[in-house]
Amino acid sequence: MGISICIFDAYGTLFDVAAAARIAANEPGRGAFAAKWPEIAANWRAKQLQYTWLRAASDTHCDFWRVTQDGLDYALEAADMAHPELRDRLLALYWELSAFPEVPAMLAALKSARLKTGILSNGSPRMLSGAVESAGIGDMLDAVLSVEQLGVFKPHPSVYRMVDGHFGVQPKQVLFVSSNGWDASYAAHHGFQTVWVNRSNEPMDRLPSTPQHIMHDLTDIPKLAATL
Ligand code: LAC
Repeated sequence: MGISICIFDAYGTLFDVAAAARIAANEPGRGAFAAKWPEIAANWRAKQLQYTWLRAASDTHCDFWRVTQDGLDYALEAADMAHPELRDRLLALYWELSAFPEVPAMLAALKSARLKTGILSNGSPRMLSGAVESAGIGDMLDAVLSVEQLGVFKPHPSVYRMVDGHFGVQPKQVLFVSSNGWDASYAAHHGFQTVWVNRSNEPMDRLPSTPQHIMHDLTDIPKLAATL
């Protein structure tokens, strides 16, 4: 039995999370931010994710929009750039992140191969519909699954089980794709066939399972799916 479904993580995998800070840095009058944006963007993402793990471990769930704002506030204060106008602009840009350039053709190829496609994300349903709509990829997705249905963030095992329940399949029928090494590892642990999209040559996370496949972007996902 081969795979019948291809499921994608959202932030960092389909949607370019650095785009918000990069676009803001190129706007007129943002000299100080332009000098520091890569560090602020990295810190924002790191804190956003740490807060998801801490809130899951401590049973203090809130939605992903809350941790996105909290992570940004931390990163801006750490860089001595806590300006309300900049904060509002970065959050508005996060709401309409662009997809990586190869995403539309890659999803179209999966649909031509008659595979089902979907998103499994920490994002709140409203955040995910904003991103899917601004990227124009809604027609090529069969499901957009948010952890908000469960009230706990990845990598809680119930999150990965949501895919099996939604599509009525076994984990081995699912190809799961994430650029977050820890997400790919726990998806593999659940039993999905897994691709880690390692765009920036990071080392493999030391976790209980490892993803079976590593790629540098999403271009060859349809080719891989055809072999599984
Ligand atoms: C998500 C985060 C982990 O979309 O990128 O679930």
